Amino acid sequence: MVKYTFGTDDAGRSRLESIASVFNPLAAQFIRQHLSDQPCAVAADLGCGPGFTTDMLAQATGCSRVYGLDNAPYFLQMAAAHFPAYTFIQHDLTQIPLPVQADVIYVRFVLSHLPDAVQMVNRWLTALKPGGLLFVDETDSVESKIDVFQRYFDTNAGMIAAQGANLWIGETLAAGQYESEVVASVCDRVLVANFQAATWFLPNVETVWQTDPYVQSHLSSQEYQRIAAEIARIKASEDDRQENTWNIRRIVLRREG
Ligand SMILES: C[S@@+](CC[C@H](N)C(=O)[O-])C[C@H]1O[C@@H](n2cnc3c(N)ncnc32)[C@H](O)[C@@H]1O
Repeated sequence: MVKYTFGTDDAGRSRLESIASVFNPLAAQFIRQHLSDQPCAVAADLGCGPGFTTDMLAQATGCSRVYGLDNAPYFLQMAAAHFPAYTFIQHDLTQIPLPVQADVIYVRFVLSHLPDAVQMVNRWLTALKPGGLLFVDETDSVESKIDVFQRYFDTNAGMIAAQGANLWIGETLAAGQYESEVVASVCDRVLVANFQAATWFLPNVETVWQTDPYVQSHLSSQEYQRIAAEIARIKASEDDRQENTWNIRRIVLRREG
């Protein structure tokens, strides 16, 4: 099984909380637009991490039963403590059947860590009730005016590719063949401030990169130090120019009713 590349510890949790504060509002708006008359009792968030997407999904759908699935025990413990109204289940998403049948399923920033992403989506469709909707949010690409950020992305993309997955999985998903109707496939541009992006990148550079074999063999120690110092400087600068654009692929699939 491919391991989740980024941390599942306290630093990973803070990083995902900050990421949620930027990406959740637009994701919730998109889900609401597509739900209009959809009956919705059960919702499931696949790869829920510490639960910030689960909470967004609960609020966007109004479902009375909401599940978060993940295979990282520490994230699940944090999610259950922070969001006691939802049910969190430890499950490897590559294993079918999933332990829930849902009216709405949401998955964000997970397929970039798994092999055979299109096939995985087709398998997850079987966890939808008839007429149910599956929402996928992944990244097509990120454009940045900051050179060191580009270097950061190239290194992460290589690290993830070395594990058999694709950081920029959005375009592959957009071209995928699905066993259900594609209700929507759009690319949303999300602008992110320089210091904010740096706060997301620094924990990975300071922890995950330190032990990752791909990074160890592709970055010299001087290059590593230069990248870490420059990202730390941007984080501390509070430079709020939005010079980074996340091109987010949003796909909605409907299981036949
Ligand atoms: C980048 S985080 C995204 C968390 C959340 N969806 C969000 O956007 O904040 C990816 C999550 O997928 C989980 N994950 C990765 N591979 C998994 C697998 N095979 N089974 C279950 N969860 C997995 C990780 O543990 C992590 O919590």
